[in-house]
Amino acid sequence: MVHSETHSSKNDGTSEKCEWHLADEAATQAFAEACAQLCRDESAFQPGLVVYLQGDLGAGKSFFSRAFIQCFLPSQKVKSPTYTLVETYPTDHGPILHFDLYRLCDPEELEFLAIRDLMTPPFIALVEWPSKGAGILPEADLRIELSPDGTGRKISITPMKPAFEAFVRKLTEKLAR
Ligand SMILES: Nc1ncnc2c1ncn2[C@@H]1O[C@H](COP(=O)(O)OP(=O)(O)O)[C@@H](O)[C@H]1O
Ligand SMILES: [Mg+2]
Repeated sequence: MVHSETHSSKNDGTSEKCEWHLADEAATQAFAEACAQLCRDESAFQPGLVVYLQGDLGAGKSFFSRAFIQCFLPSQKVKSPTYTLVETYPTDHGPILHFDLYRLCDPEELEFLAIRDLMTPPFIALVEWPSKGAGILPEADLRIELSPDGTGRKISITPMKPAFEAFVRKLTEKLAR
């Protein structure tokens, strides 16, 4: 079950953060699928969508990413981009770019990945450890934070631009159904 615990806690005056409790892996999977379906329904690929995934090692960033990608590509093997920094998954809507910047020493190294070419709309980028790419990485449209919560996880999603407030509202409605 995806359990809605806290709602709409304004954290900075412009963006509304919503939080849920994810009791187990199945709940994380269901949450990622709801996000992926909404991205598809809202044509989020078209202008390009940048999602920052934050949380400590083991929080569930890669697990979320795998479930999200497999919603578009059901039997796709999703590899960890720990060493390659980015893995690209072409879909009918545009590529999903899965970044893991944990091992990035200098944000400038992102230039070697030609991220400006990779991030040509339509695309969706899921970025683990976005802080490592600060200054070079495009700003987030959505920020997802994962943290331990009992034996499960807490997940929050924050629209980082006013245009994404509706996305978070629709996700909240979708998860409440
Ligand atoms: N809601 C949940 N409750 C308990 N365990 C979870 C939940 N969601 C994911 N997990 C587990 O947490 C671990 C997260 O690992 P991973 O996704 O690699 O973390 P990260 O990429 O953040 O370092 C996985 O073993 C996954 O099975
Ligand atoms: Mg990871």
